[in-house]
Amino acid sequence: MIKKVVQDAINEQIVKELYSSNLYLSMAAYYRLINLNGFANWMRVQVQEEMFHAMKFFDYLLERGGEAKIGVINAPPTKWKSPLDVFIAAKKHEESVTESINKLATLAMKENDYATNILLQWFISEQVEEEATVTEIVERLKLAGDSKSSLFMLDSELKTRIFVPPVVAGTQA
Ligand code: FEO
Repeated sequence: MIKKVVQDAINEQIVKELYSSNLYLSMAAYYRLINLNGFANWMRVQVQEEMFHAMKFFDYLLERGGEAKIGVINAPPTKWKSPLDVFIAAKKHEESVTESINKLATLAMKENDYATNILLQWFISEQVEEEATVTEIVERLKLAGDSKSSLFMLDSELKTRIFVPPVVAGTQA
């Protein structure tokens, strides 16, 4: 049975992941509005990634005999200054998620919760990837500068992203 203090922290993380999903959906709407449909597609895939993260924590809590309680999910922003501004916000957001995953890992260690620790190893690696991906797009947008053709080339590239459920050690995560 999972300790209540760990359960509460995981419930808070579920809310953060659901917020992340809504944030990226809002970003998808922004990109769609300015006709950058490839960027919008990338964000829509990210919505699914974040929902996957939330469900992974949710299923884990239930598996450990815990109680999943879904708290209030704040509304995400709806406006950004530019296509670059959106990805800068996404990068900052992923950094904050990394911080909360790290705090959760510290708590699990303090509580000698080895099973939660194993689960969090997956999330720690996932955050390395999440941060690297958004950082690369931020840098490419900076390189594109005011070049519309570079922006549209990147947009075409991001149009090809599809959601692939993450796999861990040969089994679905
Ligand atoms: Fe669920 Fe993008 O972190």
